[in-house]
Amino acid sequence: MEILSIDPVQPDKAILSKATEIIRDGGLVAFPTETVYGIAADATNPSAIKRIYEAKGRNKSKPILVLISHMDDLSCLVQYVPKRVERLMDACWPGPLTLVLPRASDCNVSRIACAGLETLALRVPENPAAQDLLTTFSGPIAAPSANISGSVSPTRADHISDSLLDKTDLILDGGPCKIGLESTVLDLTLDQPRILRHGAIPLENLIEKLGDIKEYNHSSNTEIKSPGLLRRHYATNQPLRLNAITAQPNEAYLAFGNCTSKNAAIVRNLSETGDLSEAANKLFLLLRELDMPKYESIAVAPIPNEGLGRAINDRLERAAVKS
Ligand code: TXA
Ligand code: MG
Repeated sequence: MEILSIDPVQPDKAILSKATEIIRDGGLVAFPTETVYGIAADATNPSAIKRIYEAKGRNKSKPILVLISHMDDLSCLVQYVPKRVERLMDACWPGPLTLVLPRASDCNVSRIACAGLETLALRVPENPAAQDLLTTFSGPIAAPSANISGSVSPTRADHISDSLLDKTDLILDGGPCKIGLESTVLDLTLDQPRILRHGAIPLENLIEKLGDIKEYNHSSNTEIKSPGLLRRHYATNQPLRLNAITAQPNEAYLAFGNCTSKNAAIVRNLSETGDLSEAANKLFLLLRELDMPKYESIAVAPIPNEGLGRAINDRLERAAVKS
């Protein structure tokens, strides 16, 4: 395994060619996107996809998202693109929106990546290193988040766990991710669009563009359609206590805005000004920092359930589910 620094604005072509060769040979490359770090593999190569599942310890019934360099690359992968979805892609791509569409019968993405589903989850990333990697490779790249299944996603290269790094051939270190929270996953295979995972594009923005949108209901649905929907996910080692107005002296406190606690063993604020983008950006970083055995638990201030707050609360709620 090798670690190479890559300029996040003007990525070095020689480094990208090296990464591309590794991916062509069936290898795995950890790389930055604007949301979180991903693990890249050739989406058309079944053995490379199997390596991703093994490296992440991911259940084989859970499909993997695929990155493409431009919306024009969609036509040979999916059956159809409704007109209103074209407008949505124009507005949101490149960017943190993943669309689930029916896969074309001659789609060359490995069936293993789709976990047997007849659908494909696709997005065009905005980060220049991710974009240039896709154009140099010139094909679809499977890219789940670069974390062991069920744990917190990495927003910096040094957050990728050693056990995952050991199974990766190359790490491209492009510095901290701009957004720091995963993409929104939107299912477009039903009559009505449905959010499968809240993420960096808020529900309100999608409603503005598409009209009514359904939300996946965790409690009423026993079928797990998307692994990001597993109840326990993004898990910390120490327990989380949500909607905590104050903290105990043996607790770490994850504050938000002016909701903070003087008693806590340590206090970190997601955003002193109550800005949800800043909070989304710092969420995984601060959870990692506070997730120490010396603190009995992590108390978390209430976060407003609107805009990016929905995705933040979703991650916190699932991290808080007891194993
Ligand atoms: O921000 C992101 O999306 C990051 C960066 C690296 O691109 N990737 C990421 O990948 O979060 P992953 O595999 O950790 O999460 C992908 C989500 C999961 O919730 C998965 O269930 C869903 O996309 N997904 C993938 N393929 C699907 C499909 N065919 N149908 C429904 N959901 C799918
Ligand atoms: Mg993930």
